[in-house]
Amino acid sequence: MKRIPPGRVVSLGMKSNAPLRSRVDICEGLRERCGDVLKQIGAGKKVLVVSQASIPSQWISDASNSITDEGFEVFTHTLPDGEECKSTEELMSLWSKLQEASFERNDTVLAIGGGAVTDVAGFAAATYLRGIRSVLMPTTLLAQVDAAIGGKTGINLSAGKNLAGAIHMPEVVLIDSDVLATLPERDLQSGMGEIVKYAYIERTIIESTEYKPGPKLLIDVLKSFKSAVKADDPSITSIITSCVRMKLAVVAADPHEKRLRRCLNLGHTLGHAIEKVSDYSITHGEGVSIGTVFALQLAISMGRMDAEHERTARAMLSRMHLPVVLPDELPVEQLLVAMMKDKKRQGSSIKFVLPNGEAGLVDIDCVIDADQLMSALEDFVAHA
Ligand SMILES: NC(=O)c1ccc[n+]([C@@H]2O[C@H](COP(=O)([O-])OP(=O)(O)OC[C@H]3O[C@@H](n4cnc5c(N)ncnc54)[C@H](O)[C@@H]3O)[C@@H](O)[C@H]2O)c1
Ligand SMILES: [Zn+2]
Repeated sequence: MKRIPPGRVVSLGMKSNAPLRSRVDICEGLRERCGDVLKQIGAGKKVLVVSQASIPSQWISDASNSITDEGFEVFTHTLPDGEECKSTEELMSLWSKLQEASFERNDTVLAIGGGAVTDVAGFAAATYLRGIRSVLMPTTLLAQVDAAIGGKTGINLSAGKNLAGAIHMPEVVLIDSDVLATLPERDLQSGMGEIVKYAYIERTIIESTEYKPGPKLLIDVLKSFKSAVKADDPSITSIITSCVRMKLAVVAADPHEKRLRRCLNLGHTLGHAIEKVSDYSITHGEGVSIGTVFALQLAISMGRMDAEHERTARAMLSRMHLPVVLPDELPVEQLLVAMMKDKKRQGSSIKFVLPNGEAGLVDIDCVIDADQLMSALEDFVAHA
């Protein structure tokens, strides 16, 4: 008999009138309701479940069984582990699979995995037949708060990260906090790196969108953490919900990143360069953690905010077991080259998101030239 898991589903995003809206459901046990959800949205008969070998099989089989129980025809595709799956080769193998199984416009790609899986599977769905349905079940904290929300999909090219992609809204994002139980410690903390970024943009989002904060600002919730977060921390679901609400509000206000959406890139210009130069041995969330501290230091050196903010951020991130300095083995010259290939580059300058005034407020269009960036990187190494 079909087991309906307990718990009240929080559905976000449905009230938005934005042209590119998408629904996000949050509840423990949601993986076992995948089939119901596909039925609710009127999905076609075929579903391609895309995942990675390192995703525990239980999460995949719970979701697949619920889909089969509802009468859908399930196909599976396992991507290689890690960031490597965001490649042209893997994208092509996904297209081939969809084609061999004769997928049509109404059929669905269901991505089960971290941000790497949701990015490449989402891009395959965005491009196959010029766009078929995607449903995302993010299984890392980072993908639950960020990568799976907002419709950005893509792959890496040899010149850098996410250089080919599309915006394609998933029909539904299913956030099941149970799946975090198996997430390796390092990946859990990596997700906190992205959550800290939200804390440093929250006031800007409050000022610019319909987002209403909870009783405490995220920065105050995070400052009260005495040590690294655990997957079963009672506050984790409300932290995830706040981040998702922030991202949905930003995406509704600026789906194509003309302006406000750029605030989500705080810490990412250096973060992406660190990921690339370290050959992805530093995770996305770790790169964002270091990049956010760098952005604070740059803002302070430009007289935008008090030095105390950087000390607070370093202490908070260190308590969460996140890195706050550049690893010794990464040459600043190579980081500069990687940063100058960023999508936000304009000639020999680059547009940076920089904190401004108080924690939570940012300016999104700060133009920094290559010389200024190099000396800021050298200062960052010197002050480590
Ligand atoms: N599209 C966007 O808006 C957006 C935003 C932020 C990040 N991203 C992208 O997301 C990627 C990073 O995502 P990530 O941090 O989720 O890393 P990831 O997808 O590489 O996953 C990390 C590791 O955890 C494993 N894993 C995932 N879920 C698990 C679970 N529940 N139990 C055990 N193991 C599990 C994965 O197989 C992988 O080995 C980067 O490529 C980044 O560019 C995209
Ligand atoms: Zn990110």
